[in-house]
Parts: sequence; structure tokens; C-alpha cells
Amino acid sequence: MDQIRISGGNELNGVIPISGAKNASLPLMIASLLTDDTLTLENVPHLADVESLIRILGNHGVDYSVTGRRQAEDSNYARTVHFTARNIVDITAPYELVSKMRASFWVIGPLLARVGEARVSLPGGCAIGTRPVDLFIESLEALGADIEIENGYAHAVARNGLKGAHYRFPKISVGATHVLMMAASLAEGDTIIDNPAREPEVVNLADCLNAMGGKVEGAGTEQIRITGVTSLSGARHRVIPDRIETGTYAMAVGMTGGDVLLKGARSDLLDNALDVLRGAGIEITKVDDGIRVYRNGNGIMPVNVRTEPYPGFPTDLQAQLMGLVTMASGTSSITETIFENRFMHVQELARLGADISLSGQTATISGVPFLKGAQVMATDLRASVSLVIAGLAAEGETTVNRVYHLDRGFERLEAKLQACGADISRISH
Ligand code: EPZ
Repeated sequence: MDQIRISGGNELNGVIPISGAKNASLPLMIASLLTDDTLTLENVPHLADVESLIRILGNHGVDYSVTGRRQAEDSNYARTVHFTARNIVDITAPYELVSKMRASFWVIGPLLARVGEARVSLPGGCAIGTRPVDLFIESLEALGADIEIENGYAHAVARNGLKGAHYRFPKISVGATHVLMMAASLAEGDTIIDNPAREPEVVNLADCLNAMGGKVEGAGTEQIRITGVTSLSGARHRVIPDRIETGTYAMAVGMTGGDVLLKGARSDLLDNALDVLRGAGIEITKVDDGIRVYRNGNGIMPVNVRTEPYPGFPTDLQAQLMGLVTMASGTSSITETIFENRFMHVQELARLGADISLSGQTATISGVPFLKGAQVMATDLRASVSLVIAGLAAEGETTVNRVYHLDRGFERLEAKLQACGADISRISH
């Protein structure tokens, strides 16, 4: 298994290109199941999760091809990918594939809407929490689907098609919002979704559905209204820049000091999170081609933050924020409200010398003057990158084990950091 070795202490200076968002790409790719025409997605990152989903979609009959690599740059950067689901050849998403990535459960919505039946393995728990699927089932049932759970699979049937409905989510779910928007786009009549997720990735999917001939209004607000259409067409659509990658590199610069342009980043996708980082002492300014981040010699200030659905502070930046404030000049408090077990990085940050205590869902972090390199273990995607950014600031050498987690969601992490002066390399075994 690969490891990442970091020799900490270097400032970051230069330019980091921000990739297309993983969490926008995945639902957009799944939307290709809704049409027999070609859906072309620009700015798709080259990530393990994208490759896994390509395999899963292939199993249902989706062909894909890649073009449009950026010239004179490594082929791992931003690709244009064409997806064509001419015929749905298999309505089953098997356990072997779904268990690798939870988002693959989301095929249930488009398959049901397009061919009236889907048999999708339940994703099961994962390291960050139990992550049930009740909201998917309840909301699709509201559109008239019959769903049985049998032998670890959700078997959904809508023999006479789906019918529009008025549904209110009792709890906000990004994935269930994506799925209901896709399903309702091919349902008969109007659907109103109250209390949907308002994440920018939901808006990106709604824009794509509209480019495909759908009628979706209100994405990004507290109510989404959808008028079903009988068929959707192909389209060309661009994946938004990754706001989590943006916030992560901003915090890396906060930890090491330096001055970096996050090229292509859009500050409007993470305004509130950037305000939290400014409060922690990072200088952040919007510039023409992205966001400029620097630290002006002052130290990191403590924060008091709760994770919340968008527009609140994202759970996907919680581990990195904790890494940042390990060296703050005071005591911080971070409460995780989205996932019940998303604190695996606490023990690992402690190996680097952080002083963190946990009580229920709240971590109290007493700032220490410096971190010291150590061997640490990556446990999930965002936890792993928090260890990398802490390692960049730690004295001496840090080795991060199990880096396959990082490859799921960070495109060319070492190359981007190396280009800005970090001493980081991958050791392949
Ligand atoms: C998406 O996961 C993201 N994944 C996650 O990013 C992100 O952490 C999460 O949203 C929250 O922002 C992708 O977009 C691919 P949810 P999702 O449904 O959709 C509960 C990363 O690191 N819930 O919004 O699976 C659930 O258990 C990942 O990139 C139910 O109770 O998250 C959680 O407590 C990890 N019943 C809360 O809702 C359900 O049926 C929010 O989950 C569905 C969810």
C-alpha cells in the first residue's frame, strides 16, 4: 500500500489549480442514466471514486469516452467525458460495486424513472457513520414507487411510471435530494421538494437537468419545484470547482504560511467557510482567476464552529479545520452535527502532538506551539488530508499510511503541493 512522506516546515508559495468537484461529478455522471442520448461533462477530475462510478455505470449499459485533455498538462488533469446510456442492460447494482462507494446507491432514482425498476444493494455503514437510506426510500415512495428491502437489496418498482408529489424531507440529505430531483424530472406532473439540500452540487445537477430539457426551479433554496417531462436529451455541462479542495488548500497555506493562488476556485461556493478561515487568521481575497490565500506572519486564532448543511460550515472540511487549529493561540471547539463518527483523525493528530479532547460530538482543541512528525494512519478521505496538511507544518518527517483514501477525492495532491514548495512524495510499494 502506498504511503505519503512529508518533511514539514516549508512555506507554500505559488499556484494550485483547483479541480472539478468530486461530489458534483458523481451525481452528474449518474444523471446520464436518464437519457439515451450523450451527456458530456467537462472538468471531470481524475479520481478513484470517478473511476469506480464509471465501472458501476458500465454495468448498467453506460458507454463512456474521454476527450479534451488540457493541452500541455498532465493527462490526469480535467477531462471531458462523454456518457451514453443507449440501453439499460441491467437494473441491478450489485453489492460488490455499491459497497465500495456509497454514492453508487443513487442510481436507484434514474433507473426507476427511466425503466420502472431498480435493484440496488444497500450501501451498508461506513467509517464515518451508519448512513441509512430511509430518506431515499420514503421520498421515492412519495412518487409512487413500491420498494421492498430483500436480501440486502432495495428492490424498487414503478410499473406505471412515477407520479409527481409534494414531499418534505424530515432531515436534509444531499444524496436523497439528488435522487429525488432526477426521479421527479421524468415523473408525470409536478413535484415540490421542501427542505432539500442546498449544496452547490445540487444546483450544479439541477442546471444539468435543465440543460437536458428538464424543468427544475429553486435548487439552492428551501424549495425545489420540478415539472416532469416525458424524456430528457443529451447535453454538455461543466462540473463546478471543488469547494472542499479549495478550503483544504486554503487551510494548508494557513498552517505553513506563504502565499498561494487557488486557480479556478470560486469563493461564492464556500463564503461562510472562508469567513471561518478568515476568523482563524488566514488572509483570503477574491481575484480574477480564483482566490488568493496567504498568512501575514500572525499566528492561527482559535475557532468555535459547528458543522451544518450548506450554507453552514461543511462536515467535509471539519477534519482539516481541526488540523489547522491544533497550532492556534488558544482553545477551539468543533462540533460535528452531520455524521456521528467523524472524529477518527483525532487520535492520529494526537500522534503529531495535538492536544484534543472529545466529549460526545464536540472536540476541544488546545493549541500547541508546534507539531512533530510521526507515522499516522489515514482513515477516511477528509481525515487523511487533515493529516497531510498537519504534516506539512510539523517539524521533521510524517508518514501517512493507507493513502488510497486520499486518491478517492484529491486529484494529484502531491504534485500540486510539491509545485508550491512542499517536501512531499509518494512511496509506492
Ligand atoms: C454527501 O454524502 C457527500 N457525498 C459527503 O461527502 C458529505 O459529507 C455529505 O453529503 C454531507 O455534506 C457525496 O456528495 C458523494 P447526506 P451523502 O445524505 O449524500 C443522514 C466526502 O468526504 N441520512 O447529506 O451520503 C446521514 O446518515 C463525502 O466527500 C439519513 O439519516 O450525505 C447523515 O447523518 C463523505 N437517511 C445526514 O443524513 C438517509 O436516507 C446527511 O447525509 C440519508 C442520509
